[in-house]
Amino acid sequence: MTARQSIFGAKDPFALTRAWMAEAEKSELNDPNAMAVATVDETGMPNVRIVLLKSIEDDAFVFYTNYESRKAREIGLSGKIAFVLHWKSLRRQVRVRGTAEREDGAPADAYYASRALDSRLGAWASRQSRPLGSREELMADVEAARAEHGANPSRPPFWGGFRIRPTEFEFWADGAFRLHDRERWTQGFTFNVWEKERLYP
Ligand SMILES: Cc1cc2nc3c(=O)[nH]c(=O)nc-3n(C[C@H](O)[C@H](O)[C@H](O)COP(=O)(O)O)c2cc1C
Repeated sequence: MTARQSIFGAKDPFALTRAWMAEAEKSELNDPNAMAVATVDETGMPNVRIVLLKSIEDDAFVFYTNYESRKAREIGLSGKIAFVLHWKSLRRQVRVRGTAEREDGAPADAYYASRALDSRLGAWASRQSRPLGSREELMADVEAARAEHGANPSRPPFWGGFRIRPTEFEFWADGAFRLHDRERWTQGFTFNVWEKERLYP
C-alpha cells in the first residue's frame, strides 16, 4: 500500500473519520472538531454554521445545541442535515449527509455535566438565536441562572444533542496540481454496510 492510499485505509467511514480526526488533533491550531453544519428552512433556503463535534460513534456523530435555536427548528422540519469537517493543516475534508434525531437522554446529561459550571449556566441563560438587547442583558441572565440553579444545575430541557446518522460520506485529500483524491462511501441496502467509490477531483 502506498502512503497515499494508506490515509484512506479503514474498515468503515466512521473509523476513517476517527483516524483523520486523531491526526488533526495533533496538527490543528484549535478546534479540530469544528464542523460546518448545514440545514434548510421551510422554503429550502440553506443555512450553515459551525458547531463542535462531540462524539464519533460506530454508526453516528453527535453534537450539542439549544433545541429552540434556528438549526434545531430546521432539523425538526426536514430531519435532514449535512456537515463538513475541514482541516487546513492536513489539507483534507470529510463531507457527510444524513438524518438527525435528538439525543436528550443519558449521554446528553453526561456531556452537560462534564462542562464548566459557567458553560452549564450559559446554556440555561441563552435563548439561542433570539434577539438580544445587549451583552449586559446576557450576563444578567447568566447571574439569574446562577441564583436559580446554583452550583449543580441539571441539563435544561431545551438543550441537548443531535445524533447524525449518515447515508453518505466523502473523504477528500489535497493532491498536487489539483489532482485531489476523493472517495465516496454510501450505505447499501444493509444497515451499516458501506460501499466505496473513487471520484474525479
Ligand atoms: C468554533 C465554534 C464552535 C461552536 N460550537 C457550537 C456548538 O457546539 N453548539 C452550538 O449550538 N453552537 C456552536 N457555535 C455557534 C454556532 O455557530 C451558531 O452561532 C449558533 O449555534 C446559532 O446557530 P443557529 O442560529 O443556526 O441555530 C460555535 C461557533 C464556533 C465559531
